[in-house]
Amino acid sequence: LNQGHGVKGLADMGVKCLPKQYIHPQEERFFTSNNDGTGEDGSIPIIDMSNLGDHTMETLICNAAEKWGFFQIINHGVPLKVLEDVKVATYRFFELSAEEKSKYLKENSPTSCVRYGTSFVPQVERALEWKDYLSLLFVSEEEALALWPLACRAEALEYMKSSENVIRNLVKILMKGLNIHDIDIDIDIDEKKESLIMGAKRINLNYYPKCPNPELTVGVGRHSDVSTLTVLLQDDVGGLYVRGSGAEAESWIHVAPMKGALVINIGDALEILSNGKYKSVEHRVTANGRNNRVSIPIFVNPNPNLIIAPLQELIDRGEMPKYRELLYLDYVNYFFQKPHDGKATIEFAK
Ligand code: SIN
Ligand code: FE2
Repeated sequence: LNQGHGVKGLADMGVKCLPKQYIHPQEERFFTSNNDGTGEDGSIPIIDMSNLGDHTMETLICNAAEKWGFFQIINHGVPLKVLEDVKVATYRFFELSAEEKSKYLKENSPTSCVRYGTSFVPQVERALEWKDYLSLLFVSEEEALALWPLACRAEALEYMKSSENVIRNLVKILMKGLNIHDIDIDIDIDEKKESLIMGAKRINLNYYPKCPNPELTVGVGRHSDVSTLTVLLQDDVGGLYVRGSGAEAESWIHVAPMKGALVINIGDALEILSNGKYKSVEHRVTANGRNNRVSIPIFVNPNPNLIIAPLQELIDRGEMPKYRELLYLDYVNYFFQKPHDGKATIEFAK
């Protein structure tokens, strides 16, 4: 496997048959030809954020975070042009030659903040995933301008900056939902909470090429995110499935693409900080036999050098902590040491 060529390299070569490293065991295969964006049902809430400060909207967000761990937002304030431009820039990066992209492989990259790769963690996986990615850790604007690949730099940075407000508002609404009363939409989050909840941000550009045998593999295996929140931009191809809640826990719900919408999901860090009130829900991505797909998540993470645990306010009011204290960096490292395996990561915090 030449990682510099990625799965896009295989697709471009015109492979007719899925190489055996990509074949997943029967029980992990998940395929439906109905990836046409119509969805299976409308269970994942779609929430209009145009009326900031509206109590009903805040309740919808907190309820969705508790019940589904996933929702879509519309009228979120990130301009459609910014969303469209970052998708174009994603294609522009992946269409670079293998030599050019290889400069950003882990072993070559001039900075640990920029990493191009394929699958999840090929060294530890039993079967590879049909996905290439470019991962950009946001440290500062100056660094991004100096080190992010030129093919996507301006657009990725613009997307990151334009989404800052909505991310901050979501965090405030979700904190307010925990009855942490010093937090409201028009009050700044204090610095300590800020770095605990949103102290680090990463943007990934994901590329899922059209696959010769989508029924035998996955785009991304079952997992939950390690983030506080993930803000995901997807294109119109579809293929993201979320585990249902309650009586629907055995079913997988399609997150139907919606023009201009952003998909928000709760990650493990917020499940831990909220002492289990907000749910980090398992999800997966199918491979697609007809289309290339791109998706662009922004991972909002705790500062990796901080200890995460259920928020002190919750413990002070008598809740029993459901998770132990742990260094966020250790949590992330644990996630990347094993293949995708559903909700197993969070057991490490128990
Ligand atoms: C992921 O959850 O890892 C990717 C989500 C997507 O591509 O839709
Ligand atoms: Fe994910």
